[in-house]
Amino acid sequence: MSATAYTDRVAATGSGNPLRSLSAEEYRRVKRRARQIDARSRCAFSNSLVQLYGVRAFRGAVIDLAMKLEGGRYFSRTLREISRVHHDVQVGMYTYGRSTLPGYYPPGSSVGNFGSIGTTLVSHRLPSGCPAQHPLFHDPKLGLVAEKSSSYVARPPIEVGHDVYSGFDVITLPTCRRIGDGAVIGTSAVLTEDVPPYSIVAGFPARVIRKRFSEEVEALVRESEWFLRPISELVEEFDCFINPASVQMMNRLVSVMSRPPSPIEAAAS
Ligand SMILES: CC(C)(COP(=O)(O)OP(=O)(O)OC[C@H]1O[C@@H](n2cnc3c(N)ncnc32)[C@H](O)[C@@H]1OP(=O)(O)O)[C@@H](O)C(=O)NCCC(=O)NCCS
Repeated sequence: MSATAYTDRVAATGSGNPLRSLSAEEYRRVKRRARQIDARSRCAFSNSLVQLYGVRAFRGAVIDLAMKLEGGRYFSRTLREISRVHHDVQVGMYTYGRSTLPGYYPPGSSVGNFGSIGTTLVSHRLPSGCPAQHPLFHDPKLGLVAEKSSSYVARPPIEVGHDVYSGFDVITLPTCRRIGDGAVIGTSAVLTEDVPPYSIVAGFPARVIRKRFSEEVEALVRESEWFLRPISELVEEFDCFINPASVQMMNRLVSVMSRPPSPIEAAAS
């Protein structure tokens, strides 16, 4: 979008738009920054760092270096590659929080793009029927039990969608296996079952308190699949993301997003 088109778009969004005071020059800078972010998200030594992570003693240093070189947890593609290769966990782009810590989520898990899910805790199911339930007895690391001990059930994998937001101190029990796209999880929620897409859940046990959007808007947001695009592309349509969603705006987003895809994977590699 040209700077003039940007100014027109801002003028059309009405009051309350947090970008109203952004000049055309500042907007150009935003776009430049977004392009730089995507461009630097994989450093030249990425493959070597992924390999080096295999040496336990270097793990901390590798993670620190990858984050330093690639703009931090939101962006580092090497961190994501380490999770995939060494821990069998897929972590989407721009997602931040504990899920980006390699090894934090159980193998086989996946987390979508644009997630804010740092505080989700993942718990084990402990052998409460045994006289001793301390992990030392039941964790194969000490060697008392075999790798696949049936008395100590590790947390099963979890699938977290795109654009998921979880508040402080959320606890996810093993019975919750899936958090749908666009879900919002309230502070201190305890998730005992799957969270439906685009719903706001809260409480203990967590229950749906409302949906984020009307059915019509939700369908359009889903159809747009905006969360599969890189941030450098999404800033072009900034007003669709920072204003409350309306049918008209989401229709525009759907039509813009029907362009040939340049998915995050392709654009950022
Ligand atoms: C869940 C949340 C998004 C809901 O916001 P909202 O849609 O504006 O909801 P409201 O404040 O109107 O509350 C709706 C109802 O849900 C209840 N509720 C809201 N948040 C709740 C929570 N975390 N736990 C239990 N109940 C909650 C309210 O008491 C209210 O109940 P009522 O209808 O019986 O009066 C918000 O409360 C929340 O927890 N946000 C997360 C904030 C956070 O952790 N930030 C840290 C960032 S890392």
